[in-house]
Amino acid sequence: MNKNVVIDAIRERRTVREFTNDPVPRDALERWLEAACWAPNHRLTEPWRFLVLNQGGTARASIGDMARDYAFELGRDLPDAKRNRVADAARDEVLESPAFMYVYALPGDSEEISRENYAAVCCAVQNFQLAAYSEGYAVGWSTGKLTRLPGLRETIGADPEWQMVGALFAGKAVRRPRAQRQEMGNVTSWL
Ligand SMILES: Cc1cc2nc3c(=O)[nH]c(=O)nc-3n(C[C@H](O)[C@H](O)[C@H](O)COP(=O)(O)O)c2cc1C
Repeated sequence: MNKNVVIDAIRERRTVREFTNDPVPRDALERWLEAACWAPNHRLTEPWRFLVLNQGGTARASIGDMARDYAFELGRDLPDAKRNRVADAARDEVLESPAFMYVYALPGDSEEISRENYAAVCCAVQNFQLAAYSEGYAVGWSTGKLTRLPGLRETIGADPEWQMVGALFAGKAVRRPRAQRQEMGNVTSWL
């Protein structure tokens, strides 16, 4: 049978948010970020910016606290015990993720270039995910609450002009989630 490692990796990579305690070594992260930087980017703007929050570092601790506060605030309609549980879980996910980072796209001089830049950074994130997968790790890409924390940019030093692309968690997967896609034929027209 035909074996194509790239296509196999694309199919087999899964989004993961539950990780073992195995750390992600710094040199592995650097390799995946290097792979991210080889994404296609129009006009060679290299529009990606990665803010890596070291595990155990002060930035990670601050974001963990902010995630807790935000989840607590949003949970105002929950019973107290549940509200606290949800808030603690939001903090712990940030603190416990073996690797965690924010990814931004630089704005361009026009809407068109900003759109191209955003698209290029999404390609970079996928490169990062596939590189991690190729070394036995998994990534979770989030555009959820963690990307909307009040005071986030000030805390991590992200320029107010940068466009948020997502928060990335990475580590060794506890389990491999299932996923499915509809058939390519359903989403393709041959004209
Ligand atoms: C731009 C983008 C934003 C995403 N945001 C979230 C998110 O906020 N929370 C989440 O659980 N998954 C998020 N995901 C992951 C998707 O839910 C996931 O890709 C989808 O369920 C398909 O699973 P797979 O990646 O394992 O194939 C995001 C994915 C992308 C591409």
